[in-house]
Amino acid sequence: MSEAQQNSESSGWEYKGGTLHCNGLSLEELRLRLRQKYGHLGSPVFVYSAGILRENVMKYRDALQPLESRGMLSYSLKANSNPYLITELRDAGVAAATTVSGNEILMALKCGFLPEEIIFNGNGKQSWEVEMAVNRGVLLNIDSVFDAHRLVSISRRLGSRAKVLLRLNPVISVQTHPYLATALANSKFGIEMEQVEEVLKILSSAKAHGNNVSASNLIELRGVHIHIGSAISEVEAYVEVAKAAAKTLRHIQNNGWPEASTINLGGGLCIAEEIPVIGKDICNGRGPESDINENPKESSDSSTATINPPTPKELVAAVLPYLPEEAVLILEPGRSLVATSGVIMTDIIGVKRNGDKEFIVVDAAMTEVIRPALYGAVHQVAYVTCPHEQETAEFDIVGPVCESGDFILQGCQLHPGSSFVIWTAGAYCSSMSSNYNLRPHVVEVMVTSSKDFKVIRSPQTFDDLVKKYKAQYFSVPSPS
Ligand SMILES: Cc1ncc(COP(=O)(O)O)c(C=O)c1O
Repeated sequence: MSEAQQNSESSGWEYKGGTLHCNGLSLEELRLRLRQKYGHLGSPVFVYSAGILRENVMKYRDALQPLESRGMLSYSLKANSNPYLITELRDAGVAAATTVSGNEILMALKCGFLPEEIIFNGNGKQSWEVEMAVNRGVLLNIDSVFDAHRLVSISRRLGSRAKVLLRLNPVISVQTHPYLATALANSKFGIEMEQVEEVLKILSSAKAHGNNVSASNLIELRGVHIHIGSAISEVEAYVEVAKAAAKTLRHIQNNGWPEASTINLGGGLCIAEEIPVIGKDICNGRGPESDINENPKESSDSSTATINPPTPKELVAAVLPYLPEEAVLILEPGRSLVATSGVIMTDIIGVKRNGDKEFIVVDAAMTEVIRPALYGAVHQVAYVTCPHEQETAEFDIVGPVCESGDFILQGCQLHPGSSFVIWTAGAYCSSMSSNYNLRPHVVEVMVTSSKDFKVIRSPQTFDDLVKKYKAQYFSVPSPS
């Protein structure tokens, strides 16, 4: 059991006396302590709740329980690759890690996953990444005809058996932002169904020419993988996926790979208040009680983005009837495991008006939360401490980055207090953060009890940013 598991008293986000608390720790106190420790680098800050991470894992483990050892929960590292978080998830019972780069494989290994517990996915794997995955015995998703050729030639050269799944594109459209859909007819991901036969031929030819390993076993085809996209709110889409996966699995079994038994249905479940809507959204300047709604119902107000997201249990129950009895089912969520565990706490720099628009400028920006600018995702915003004033007005909350697209949330009805939290920032925020405008990566903390927190990523300093450049490029040396 990790330290956080032993120490946490209450889990999650809760307002007490008008101030937001994480696992019982006041965010105002946290803010103060970070300011004392790091000065101006103490804000903005990613704050994570270890308790929520564990609860999210439990929901998936419960959902997969009917499958016993044939159900596997794999965490998609791309959602958040902070090693403390990954280790926390592993300790809570996540069985595998889904990776999309060689460095993510190395990170998964560093966090204690065994090579056989790692899945390597990607439409453009580089040779060194494939070599490392094959050498170590990582499970690879074959994404295309060229990927199959490369894998066979690398396995031959290394004399190592490769374990693989076929990543399929069965063309299933879902209600999500086009940038988040990965199985449309023109998506860059996966093998289109008409090309499955060609890929199987390439893999079969590898069976005949193996050298150092048994000739019939150079490629071990274990099954199929389909990931149709992210922020998906329709369980019906997963039923389509399960049907397509089961059909192709049967085809593979009947065409020389009788041992193939794995169906990986990817990730993609959406979470509450996280449906991408392009354009303007309303923030209600939410008060203490209404701030976190674990099970939001479909909103009657069409301008808000809240929906009732499917649970992992509903997802598994919906797909189970369509899976072959002996199949191993892998689910590889990212967002729905980690998004709700984290917020970005951000201070207000100032309030200004231009034309008929009022802006609240905060110290967080698209460098920490790029999703609104990238695909119109909505991250709701709430007070750290609720202001006494009842009067509210409409504001756009924007960051200090020199881009007009640098907004956090537009059209918020609220009273400008002194600091905010940006919700559901546990996924695709830290891992997508950048140094644009030479802004440093910000501090990240995991709240471990009502009294304590751990710094799980130190803030970058200016020196961290410049040390990758040679000293002779600078006219003025860094002060030692
Ligand atoms: C192959 C694959 N699996 C799983 C995921 C995780 O998706 P999500 O974070 O939406 O659950 C992704 C993310 O895009 C992915 O590309």
